[in-house]
Amino acid sequence: MNIGATSVGGMINNVKAYASVLMPGVVHMRHTHLDEHKFISGQPETGAEIADDLERICTNFGSENIAACIVEPIAGSTGTLVPPVGYLQRLRELCDKHKILLIFDEVITGWGRTGSAFGAQEFGVTPDIMTMAKATTNGIVPFGVVACKEEIYDAVMDNSPKGAIELFHGYTYSGIPVSVAAALAVQDIFEKEDIFNRAKELAPYFQEGLFSLKDIDVVDNIRGYGMMGGIDIKTDGRPGKAGLATFKHCYDAGVNFKATGDCLIIAPMFICEKKHIDEIIEKLRTGITNYAKSKKN
Ligand SMILES: Cc1ncc(COP(=O)(O)O)c(C=O)c1O
Repeated sequence: MNIGATSVGGMINNVKAYASVLMPGVVHMRHTHLDEHKFISGQPETGAEIADDLERICTNFGSENIAACIVEPIAGSTGTLVPPVGYLQRLRELCDKHKILLIFDEVITGWGRTGSAFGAQEFGVTPDIMTMAKATTNGIVPFGVVACKEEIYDAVMDNSPKGAIELFHGYTYSGIPVSVAAALAVQDIFEKEDIFNRAKELAPYFQEGLFSLKDIDVVDNIRGYGMMGGIDIKTDGRPGKAGLATFKHCYDAGVNFKATGDCLIIAPMFICEKKHIDEIIEKLRTGITNYAKSKKN
């Protein structure tokens, strides 16, 4: 993650590690995970009021000093934190009330992961700005996208000198033709292979498989939505130790994913069929069970 993303993101260990070089003027809201949210597939019914953190921040700092509120529709790398029912709607209301831009970081949730093209559509909340990356090129070559409301676009365009670069920056690697070609090819496949609907149709089967792992004693919690899942492994002394050890056992069992802290982040490919989901779940069961056994030995 770059300094900007680290500054506004909720990866608190990263925030701590780079604290001295992060962007100033960032205030973090609380995450939406409550202790009562145990083994919930889909959106938790409670917790929407956590969005009122934004109201408090407006009171403390003055909404005229706040440019934007940025959230992931489903927080990905912090452990698949699915927004409580009404949470994103409440943020939208507060942003409108205080004239603050709402930004959805759809780097993970974008392009079908929730079962809709974007989390914005899935949850029925329209942000003012949206970021996209990963699946834009199927993660093969770097390519980031920012979409914004027309009035924001016009404000940037109309305020720059004619013919000049409107959003000036100086990256070495910008406007890479192969990335654009990959992004266009991926768009084509999304459409031809009806990828978003495939994800939507497979999601309940994946979720069922994911939650079938709840009987393993080292599994502390499971969260999931669409084609995203998070499995918390009981912390073993130091946070992150159990997650890494379980990841290694799962890798040996033949399944690869990202572990963040003690959470295993499971995000199957959209071209999966039911038999592949079965295989993923079976290998997860083997890996997690082997980790549990290794602890007893
Ligand atoms: C949701 C999300 N937003 C932002 C980033 C980081 O973006 P960048 O690499 O542009 O800093 C990541 C990185 O994995 C991410 O998962």
